[in-house]
Amino acid sequence: MDTSFLLNGAPVRATAAPEATLLDWLRTGRGLTGTKEGCNEGDCGACTVILTDAAGSRAVNACILLLAQADGKAVRTVEGLAGPDGSLHPVQEALVEHHASQCGFCTPGIAVALARAHGDGRRDHDDVLAGNLCRCTGYAAIIRAAEAAAARPVPAWMTADGRALAARQAPAAGPEAADHPARPRTADDLARWCLAHPEGTLVAGATDVGLRVTKGLRDLGPTAFIAGIGELAQVEIGAAEVRIGALVTIAALRRAIAPLHPDFAELLRRFGSGQVRAVATIGGNIANGSPVGDGPPALIALGASLHLRRGSERRRLPLEDYFVAYRRQDRRPGEFVEAVSFPLQPDRLRCHKLSKRFDQDISAVCGAFAITLVEGRVAAARLAFGGMAGVPARARAAEAALLGRPWTEATVAAAAAALADDFRPLSDMRASAAYRLAAAAGMVRRTFLEDQGVATRVLEVAP
Ligand SMILES: Cc1cc2nc3c(=O)[nH]c(=O)nc-3n(C[C@H](O)[C@H](O)[C@H](O)COP(=O)(O)OP(=O)(O)OC[C@H]3O[C@@H](n4cnc5c(N)ncnc54)[C@H](O)[C@@H]3O)c2cc1C
Ligand code: FES
Ligand code: FES
Repeated sequence: MDTSFLLNGAPVRATAAPEATLLDWLRTGRGLTGTKEGCNEGDCGACTVILTDAAGSRAVNACILLLAQADGKAVRTVEGLAGPDGSLHPVQEALVEHHASQCGFCTPGIAVALARAHGDGRRDHDDVLAGNLCRCTGYAAIIRAAEAAAARPVPAWMTADGRALAARQAPAAGPEAADHPARPRTADDLARWCLAHPEGTLVAGATDVGLRVTKGLRDLGPTAFIAGIGELAQVEIGAAEVRIGALVTIAALRRAIAPLHPDFAELLRRFGSGQVRAVATIGGNIANGSPVGDGPPALIALGASLHLRRGSERRRLPLEDYFVAYRRQDRRPGEFVEAVSFPLQPDRLRCHKLSKRFDQDISAVCGAFAITLVEGRVAAARLAFGGMAGVPARARAAEAALLGRPWTEATVAAAAAALADDFRPLSDMRASAAYRLAAAAGMVRRTFLEDQGVATRVLEVAP
């Protein structure tokens, strides 16, 4: 498969299997060994590079970015952070001045992540670095360096990629695009490709698929790289409905959803890291059918519908009905996810994620709650959980225990107890069954307490 892009400002062309990762190609194909391989699964950030396209620049993990995903874009590695005359990027200077590196293995990834954030004038260094592990320096020196760099201007060469891409001719939309069925440009192209390859692999952000390659050592078979289908990457906020295209990234969803449902946006802040959210899509999060995906519980609580397409045939189903059993979904061969939508509604959504680490960790339990009160009684309740069963699911018994009842501690205690009728959770490395049930009950109580104005957030220091 042919891929062309700008690498540290210079055009390059590569031919590789669809499974080739950008990291492998950089290190073994180009000798750019500044980009490190740590975990090879998106967790440590040692492989961070900057990816630029028409939508902007973002830090991404090269280890799980497939080479073909770079097509038509610009990639800047740690070797491209210094200026053409060799002058260091302000972030690099500050890392040196503040002694922010010891063994140095994490340092290229940290420098790249911070340089990207520096370009946007960001000061939320903790969030920026949530996807970059440093095991020996400690973060204090790194954060001090980030703070010092923030006062210095963005070097001109760091904005060159965007300008160079804008000056390049757009790829031909005619016969050439049609000749590239593995890079469909429209939803119609994708529908045709899926019908022709019902067992093929769709690659959106590759934050799940990439691991099949790097950890599962699997071939992908016929593969379509779909992230370039702009019409599936839109968020539409209509008079009655919010429709989110399957290819909307988690980062874009977080921005779009914040004014409507701030708790959902806050939950998405804890979805992987910046590097993961920059490419991971909501369609991939739903389609993979994981029982611990963070998107589905919130969407189910909002009453979401899933929009599926096979050829020219479209259907819509309640999102909770899509998840049939562990890793089994109601999706036919040749069918793909087009969008997810939910009714525009007053914000009642509350989301709670429990994971071993606050940042960059998959949920042990994720709960989402949309509870409507009328004159002190529960008029409507949708409670949805991830991590409590083989699929993301509604807690119907707990909902029934709330409906029509006064919104009191006693009602909430009854609903929390009813969770034992809803779920028989698994014990696994993330949590035991008993802990999951206790945590889910705690989330129901917490929702009530927050509604009463009680401070429950452990990250906030209450007087
Ligand atoms: C380090 C790390 C941290 C993570 N943290 C979290 C987290 O905190 N919370 C969480 O929920 N997830 C997390 N994930 C999992 C992953 O990021 C998400 O599930 C993500 O949303 C997947 O989206 P994607 O676009 O990368 O999917 P891909 O990997 O491209 O695809 C995933 C699956 O969906 C299929 N697919 C993709 N798009 C479509 C479509 N439109 N129609 C039909 N099938 C499709 C693919 O064929 C594949 O089977 C994490 C992953 C990593 C590597
Ligand atoms: S090598 Fe660890 S995130 Fe890529
Ligand atoms: S300096 Fe050694 S891991 Fe960060």
